[in-house]
Amino acid sequence: MQFHANKGSAGSQKTTCLILPVYSEGPLPAATRSVDAATGGLIGELLDSGDIKGAIGDTLLVRTPDAISAKRLLLIGCGERDKFDRKAYRRATTAIFSALKKTRIKDAVSFLSLENVKGTDAYRRVLIAVESWHYQDYRFTSMKSSTPDDEPALKSFGLAVRSNHVARARQGIKHGKAISQGIHLCRDLGNLPANVCTPSYLVQQARAIGKGHKKLHIEALDEKAMQKLGMGSLLSVTAGTAEPAKLIVLKHSGAAASKRPVVLVGKGVTFDTGGISLKPSPAMDEMKYDMCGAATVLGVFRAVAELNLNINLIGIIPTCENMPGSKATKPGDIVTSMSGKTIEVLNTDAEGRLILCDALTYAQRFKPAALIDIATLTGACIVALGRHRSGLLSNSDTLSGALLKAGEKSDDNAWRLPIDDEYQKLLKSNFADFANIGGRDAGTITAACFLSKFVEDSDWAHLDIAGTAWRTGPSKGSTGRPIPLLMEYLLNR
Ligand code: BES
Ligand code: MN
Ligand code: ZN
Repeated sequence: MQFHANKGSAGSQKTTCLILPVYSEGPLPAATRSVDAATGGLIGELLDSGDIKGAIGDTLLVRTPDAISAKRLLLIGCGERDKFDRKAYRRATTAIFSALKKTRIKDAVSFLSLENVKGTDAYRRVLIAVESWHYQDYRFTSMKSSTPDDEPALKSFGLAVRSNHVARARQGIKHGKAISQGIHLCRDLGNLPANVCTPSYLVQQARAIGKGHKKLHIEALDEKAMQKLGMGSLLSVTAGTAEPAKLIVLKHSGAAASKRPVVLVGKGVTFDTGGISLKPSPAMDEMKYDMCGAATVLGVFRAVAELNLNINLIGIIPTCENMPGSKATKPGDIVTSMSGKTIEVLNTDAEGRLILCDALTYAQRFKPAALIDIATLTGACIVALGRHRSGLLSNSDTLSGALLKAGEKSDDNAWRLPIDDEYQKLLKSNFADFANIGGRDAGTITAACFLSKFVEDSDWAHLDIAGTAWRTGPSKGSTGRPIPLLMEYLLNR
């Protein structure tokens, strides 16, 4: 699919389908009005006769009289003009692509992008359109024996912009494409079953991203190397499985070496059975998505490499399986983390924090300007925030402010939860420095409290994506979140 930033009037576009906005009341937008005039009042008539109401997402496809060169018009409803905000624009954009997908139309030019939309500029409107197309176009078919022949016909999509916005709009197209590729990779990895998507598979994927990108360096530590580093906590999680654990390190050096990097740490549990603290069977299959933090980091690197961003970025992915077995860690076992701190493993199902803590200690060597970990860490986060917002816990108002803002702008929202000192007491252990769980209360917070003990003096934020990385139910599958949030954050640096 090719996206274009088109300047010029609606009448001057060479396309088979002109897409024009209509509101549920009030005067027609300028582009729509000009076509209405050229067609002898066709659009006004369609509205008057009720063929389209103009509510958000309503569409009407009509053939045009010979008076204009485009053979078809697709009217897109935008609802009430003064309520047409970014969310409404997104909905209308999605509706355009759904309508076009039901046709054999190969090329179209949309004037929706020319509307005033609260909280957007031309860049944002174009970016949203490109992301929306790729999001809808995603299908996961690699595990089916035959793939349906339903390639979309649409091959070229023009977005109308004012001539002084063409450069910014082209940037929106470029960013939208790169971010979408990252999301695509992330969704594929989340959707793949754990018998395919193993830690070694994630290593291969990281290496594939590195190929052809000179500024990107990939390294993968094996269990022996982790042992040397003293990562006793991480290794205790992988103890029950025959599948080798890995620590993947990705380095994108796009700025001066003196510039401190942003470090992203992604939880990569490729399957979480709970270990000896075995999970119940219902929906256990979904625990293949327990590596979505890792997939997010890989997706971000894919996009950052593609865009060749002039930032320094490090990715650290601790990855393993959490399985029961004769060598598995048992409740009550005490392990020594890379930091030297000892941990009483009261519940082997609280394994994410056990691999992340060693990765966070490892991250300190890069002297991060910002340290952000991303993890499907707690079921409690789904209870607290549902599937709309990621949990955000941080030791820095500046960093969490920047992440919240990036989430808002990209409609990939987070919500900050506290990590006051009082909560730390819940992790008390009678036998080791502390325990890996804090009981029933405040599960998302105590998980973050645990992680915070391994963060030295960096600005640090933890994103709990247990709810946002995955959709359950009939359309179950990986969402690619929070890549939009993180890319927005990185692009603003
Ligand atoms: N991977 C899970 C968290 C999770 C649950 C993610 C549901 C997505 C959906 C994590 O490893 C886990 O099992 N956490 C436990 C922690 C508890 C033992 C303190 C949980 O949330 O139940
Ligand atoms: Mn678990
Ligand atoms: Zn887990």
